[in-house]
Amino acid sequence: MTEPLFTITEKNLDTGMRGYPVGYCVTSHVDPNEGLFYCGHSIREMALKSPEEVIYLLYHRKEGTKEEVDSFFSEINAQRCLADEVAWQIKQLPRKAHPMKLFSLALLFLDVFEKTGDYRKDCLNVIAQLPHLVASVINHHAGWGETKEPSGSYMESFADMLNVPDKKPGLNEVLSLFNVLHYDHGGGNLSVFVGKAVASGLEGLYGSLSSAMCALAGPRHGSANQVALEFVKELHKALGDDATVEMIEDWLRDRLKRGELVYGFGHAVLRAEDPRATIFYDFVKEHYLDHPLAKIALLLREAGPKVLKENPKVANPYPNIDAISGTMLTAAGFGYPEYFTLLFGLSRCVGIAIQIVYERLEAREGKGTPIVRPKYLYRV
Ligand code: MLT
Repeated sequence: MTEPLFTITEKNLDTGMRGYPVGYCVTSHVDPNEGLFYCGHSIREMALKSPEEVIYLLYHRKEGTKEEVDSFFSEINAQRCLADEVAWQIKQLPRKAHPMKLFSLALLFLDVFEKTGDYRKDCLNVIAQLPHLVASVINHHAGWGETKEPSGSYMESFADMLNVPDKKPGLNEVLSLFNVLHYDHGGGNLSVFVGKAVASGLEGLYGSLSSAMCALAGPRHGSANQVALEFVKELHKALGDDATVEMIEDWLRDRLKRGELVYGFGHAVLRAEDPRATIFYDFVKEHYLDHPLAKIALLLREAGPKVLKENPKVANPYPNIDAISGTMLTAAGFGYPEYFTLLFGLSRCVGIAIQIVYERLEAREGKGTPIVRPKYLYRV
């Protein structure tokens, strides 16, 4: 193929490489209007599947029969329990840091105590251990006590290990849906890009994932779900339970006039409402319509695009997944915003690990991609 895929002019410099094609992604793609697809299957279809079925699909790039999925998981589940050394190290971590920092450190403990150096083996190991690892980090950071050993299905086991006070019965289902919808989002989102870039220097899988989780931690990426929930709460505090779409529109306009940001809207690639958000909105409407924050988030879904469209420079005025995910978790009884990004990371590490395996072992007929080395133009 000799046709140019993308032309770079000076106006593309210093734009975060927005839209530059740099390689192939074999797990998922994001269509600006239709949203996310896992191996060609729409995220709406995926939302009806179990975490095990979707992880099988992403790893093998084909759907598995029930027997194939069960056998794959019974094999990897043999290693789903953290090594004692790793569990002990997690309990020594300082609790004053943001839990995402603890997560990155915990992934480095896997590097120290579990690394085989084989990207594929380490990928399967981390997929198996993520629920135990993340539950251990959250329980330790929150002071919720000892973490029991994993048992049961992938996300039921996670929900069971998480010692959330006064756990509500529907939490399992919400955590599972949240998990499935966050595994992957194409090849160029910041965390997967960073993970693959670090692995391109031949750093191992765990170190690459640890770096990727630092990339996910920022408010422009993974912690947007935490920030967006604070925004919904602020709106609720300002306008109360009787807020209307019109009142929210005025509140948003005032905010924009003051130069303040509106959170949970827009996306680097999407040009329509994020279908992951649509799935969560539908779930919230069905299960949590009476929750005060759910009501506000649903009104904001209507008001936001109306106000943002008044500015012709806004390319996508529609809600993204972060506009509603934190509200859904809160309504389900997990009102702990500082752990939202960790739940995102628990899920996203699956996609990142699988994409790293592709780049290291399969790309370019098995040679793997070379070290990432873009060019910067010198300017005084
Ligand atoms: C994601 O899920 O990674 C976010 O929507 C950000 C992105 O795709 O760039």
